[in-house]
Amino acid sequence: MSLFAFLLLVGGVAAFQFNLSALPEPGRMETLLAAKGKRFLIRRASRGVVPPPPTDRNASLTAGDKLFGTECSECHGYSGRKPTDAGRWMYPRAADLGSAEVQGYSDRELFWIVKNGIRLSGMPAFGRVESDKQIWDLVHFVRTLPANANPKGERDSSLHSE
Ligand code: HEC
Repeated sequence: MSLFAFLLLVGGVAAFQFNLSALPEPGRMETLLAAKGKRFLIRRASRGVVPPPPTDRNASLTAGDKLFGTECSECHGYSGRKPTDAGRWMYPRAADLGSAEVQGYSDRELFWIVKNGIRLSGMPAFGRVESDKQIWDLVHFVRTLPANANPKGERDSSLHSE
């Protein structure tokens, strides 16, 4: 059997095994590889020039809080920490934005993620929807999420002062 025929056979068998369903939890190996690849690509992509953040941090936070409620909560949940049903069952799952993994990104990386989105995942790009300043506002707000005292509760009254 030629190598080509062999590869065709392996590919065919793999295609039959492949499950398009988003229901099963991603396996550990898959999660590990995807996470490593994602971090590598985000680090590399975010090396370019990033516009400077707004200097008034408090005003930026208030604006980011409001924007989060309208733009992000439909998947990440109002608290940012407990994805909604839609976010929970995306594949890959919408992230807990207060988690150590997400907070481990640099500000520049978070800016890049919100602006560009993550291809092949449910995370949309906001670069044509929000201004650079608004994206910084969102990044500043995401940084406050680990301090949310009630991570599992949905609507924390201290959030989204609309
Ligand atoms: C339509 C659903 C959806 C919306 C709306 C959404 N996200 Fe996401 N987000 C996702 C999913 C799904 C992931 C997980 C992507 C992955 O693991 O590759 C994600 C991941 C992220 C990450 C972390 C990247 C990582 O490595 O897991 C950040 C930060 C983030 N989102 C911020 C935001 C912000 C800020 C907003 C609002 C401006 C937002 N998201 C709106 C679905 C969404």
